[in-house]
Amino acid sequence: MVPTMGALHDGHLSLVRAAGKPTVVVSIFVNPTQFAPHEDFDTYPRNLDGDLAKLKTIGAPIVFAPTPREMYPEGFSTSVTVGGPSVGLETDFRPHFFAGVATVVAKLLLAALPDVAVFGEKDYQQLLVVKRLVRDLNIPTGIIGAPIAREADGLAMSSRNTYLDARERTIAAGLNKVLRFAAGRARSGGDLRDAEAMAMAELKGVGFDSVDYVAIRDAETLMLTDDPKRPLRLLAAAKIGKTRLIDNMAI
Ligand code: PAF
Repeated sequence: MVPTMGALHDGHLSLVRAAGKPTVVVSIFVNPTQFAPHEDFDTYPRNLDGDLAKLKTIGAPIVFAPTPREMYPEGFSTSVTVGGPSVGLETDFRPHFFAGVATVVAKLLLAALPDVAVFGEKDYQQLLVVKRLVRDLNIPTGIIGAPIAREADGLAMSSRNTYLDARERTIAAGLNKVLRFAAGRARSGGDLRDAEAMAMAELKGVGFDSVDYVAIRDAETLMLTDDPKRPLRLLAAAKIGKTRLIDNMAI
């Protein structure tokens, strides 16, 4: 299974390929419970016909595109809350987000009971939250993380990139460039907290209006660590105008 919110791009298609299975269910559902009232639920791009055409080009997997009423019928009162990797980072800025994601992902996986489900590493914290969710609730689905698909200039593919105008699109490419520098500094033994602070300043320097976080964390738990023996992940979120972009990479 490949759970998506539609507005499919090449990154989503790479997730379908990464499933490596003859039968793949792609779900397309813009999940209202993972958006706060002030966020972009109403304007989130929706193009079911275009999505179906794209999926056909890669072998027409099965598509599950429920309505909000089908997913959340009258009286729906359950929410799945995951601790552990959902603490901090995205949660500091989008406190509603992971409960919405965990609830809908649990429903989708239990409805389809796939052998494996593929999630992009672009939403790295989400990937760890989903891994924790299936372990904790004994959902019999293997979770596969697939590499980030990028545009030629390094920008991570995202349905929200369509919000960017030409000026913002140029600035957006700076996110990946700045993170690559910061990862390089961290890899060559630089102080991790200094690397984070420098990257934050550089993101503002290249034109981001605000930076929610730049953080180097334990790649498996997302806890703060300075232990050089642990695998590390650099994660960031920053805004240009109304658009919030995220990116991350291994160190
Ligand atoms: O990553 C997404 O597109 C969504 O958060 C997901 C996993 C489909 C849940 O709505």
